[in-house]
Amino acid sequence: MAAVSPPTFRTRPGRLEGRIALITGGTSGIGKATALLFSQEGATVVITGRRLELGQEVVAEIEAQGGRAVFLAADHTNAEDCRQVVERIIADFGRLDILFNNAGVVLSGTAESTSEEDWSHTLDLNVTAVWRMSKLVLPYMRAQRGGVIINNASDWGLVAGKNAVVYCASKGAVVQMTRAMALDHARENIRINAVCPGDTFVERWVQKGYFSGTDSGAVEAGLQTLGEALPMGRVGQADEIARAVLFLASNDSSFMTGATLVVDGGNTAM
Ligand SMILES: NC(=O)c1ccc[n+]([C@@H]2O[C@H](COP(=O)([O-])OP(=O)(O)OC[C@H]3O[C@@H](n4cnc5c(N)ncnc54)[C@H](OP(=O)(O)O)[C@@H]3O)[C@@H](O)[C@H]2O)c1
Repeated sequence: MAAVSPPTFRTRPGRLEGRIALITGGTSGIGKATALLFSQEGATVVITGRRLELGQEVVAEIEAQGGRAVFLAADHTNAEDCRQVVERIIADFGRLDILFNNAGVVLSGTAESTSEEDWSHTLDLNVTAVWRMSKLVLPYMRAQRGGVIINNASDWGLVAGKNAVVYCASKGAVVQMTRAMALDHARENIRINAVCPGDTFVERWVQKGYFSGTDSGAVEAGLQTLGEALPMGRVGQADEIARAVLFLASNDSSFMTGATLVVDGGNTAM
């Protein structure tokens, strides 16, 4: 059966007017798409990541659209880098309204084939950094009487996949951490939710050799095969996840906290 085509979006700009938003891992993929969208909605966007050149390219793209953005080089497995990012934002802007904990890594392996190093690195970045960044921003959000945190989990935080033990463990932890933190801060006007994307095409898939080649034909063919296994007949696009994150970041989701918003083309309904 034919796949459902991605829609063309109409924007209703201004939903994040005047907000300061931090997106961890904004140099590519879902983080980059979210940075571009947040800026179109009026936010001043701070993105982080390790790849300097890509970070600067995203800032240039946002500025070319008339937006405001800053790139701060940071490795979120490093506690000092995390602290410096938050301190710099507070020093420069005096507040932080939105934190999107997006930086993450996918490493495959069964329980037996996962190395100690892959286990520790995945949990350091996918779980500990989410806690660490939240812990750093919460005092400022409390002092300014509100804020929003969105954690990028995964559909594999809710259901499991084969050969992905540490990734599934990490994303399941993100879902539960989101719920627990949401309860602790609900009376402080700090909303904390998770987005659970399903398979979403990002450049990394090409770089990691997920397809038979890196040319557009090989990528198209690979995406078609992957998509055929999914209810909507296609994988997601980074912009489709960004729109769900925007919903969670904006006042449109004002009565939501502790929720997991699944954006997976029906995958977890199967
Ligand atoms: N794509 C999917 O199908 C999918 C599905 C479910 C969930 N997700 C989640 O979505 C999030 C974003 O992934 P993506 O798919 O958009 O892939 P991606 O393009 O590889 O993005 C990962 C981002 O994380 C950053 N990052 C990685 N390690 C970092 C570190 N140690 N310190 C700071 N930043 C780091 C990367 O920046 P640098 O390399 O510049 O550091 C990059 O900006 C992840 O949490 C992932 O688990 C993705």
